[in-house]
Amino acid sequence: MANTQTPHGFQPFEFEQVYSISNGKRIKSRSSYASLVTSKDSIVWAEDTGDKRRAVFKLYHHRGPISWWREKFFRFRVQREFDALCYLFQNGVPCPRPHYWSYGYLPGLGRCELLVTSEVPDSITFAEFLQSSEGANQASNVCALFRLIRKMHRSGFYHGALWARNVLVTTPDLRDVSFHIIDTPSSMRFSKDLYGTRMAWADLLNISTSLRKLFGADSCEQYLIEYGLSERLIERFKTHLIRYSPSRHTRNRLRAEFEVRELVSHFCSWCTGIHRIKAAKPLHRKASNPICSE
Ligand SMILES: Nc1ncnc2c1ncn2[C@@H]1O[C@H](COP(=O)(O)OP(=O)(O)OP(=O)(O)O)[C@@H](O)[C@H]1O
Ligand SMILES: [Mg+2]
Repeated sequence: MANTQTPHGFQPFEFEQVYSISNGKRIKSRSSYASLVTSKDSIVWAEDTGDKRRAVFKLYHHRGPISWWREKFFRFRVQREFDALCYLFQNGVPCPRPHYWSYGYLPGLGRCELLVTSEVPDSITFAEFLQSSEGANQASNVCALFRLIRKMHRSGFYHGALWARNVLVTTPDLRDVSFHIIDTPSSMRFSKDLYGTRMAWADLLNISTSLRKLFGADSCEQYLIEYGLSERLIERFKTHLIRYSPSRHTRNRLRAEFEVRELVSHFCSWCTGIHRIKAAKPLHRKASNPICSE
């Protein structure tokens, strides 16, 4: 594996072990190792990193040749995710601390990409949280999530896959919870606050879909107020939300549109000399050993 972002002092995972483990179909569990998700094209697992901290490893495997070469030329999927997490981290939006990304070829797994982040301990997904909590506690917690989304949008960050399974909730006792944003390869960065834009609208529709399915569209009203939408926009939003079920084609079309908008946004900020879209800096340049220095 070509290891492009390995911080000092951190021993990368032994990739051969991944191979032997995943080759045997069922992922075996070692004492320090926990499988989180396995799908046909990715494996996510958590692993001790030596000083009792745990890191989450996300390995995309069997990457197709066309996307592989395209990404090699532009940016790898894990690299986009890494940069996005660095950006969120630097803008004070809670997310797992990104450690490094890597790519290479593994026998049996083909072309692979790997992203390593810190683990959010004792967390469940927002989707699971909605099923497990109830009443007033849940409402006040969900308000906190919408404030967090507002903060994310204020920094010009569009998530692009803000589904309930891509938000983690830490649950000390289901009363005092905190949220973390994960899974950011589809994200984009703009030079201005996204309030009222189609990008913000799309993120809000995605996250509100789970709430609508469980509690109805009206339940979102208090959260949208917390986000800062005006009454008129909330009414419009609810009408959209009721019939929101984007097809693959619609999602692709929106993505293409947002990519053009992102380009224009970069170009405008470059023209006006306001370089507000800060390049995300790898965090490990600041800390000699990020895993230990958190
Ligand atoms: N930093 C983390 N700390 C704790 N758990 C994590 C972390 N990152 C990922 N997970 C767990 O792994 C699951 C999958 O992660 P992620 O969403 O990044 O991968 P994915 O391949 O996109 O999966 P999916 O398609 O289900 O969204 C999450 O739902 C979460 O339960
Ligand atoms: Mg995900």
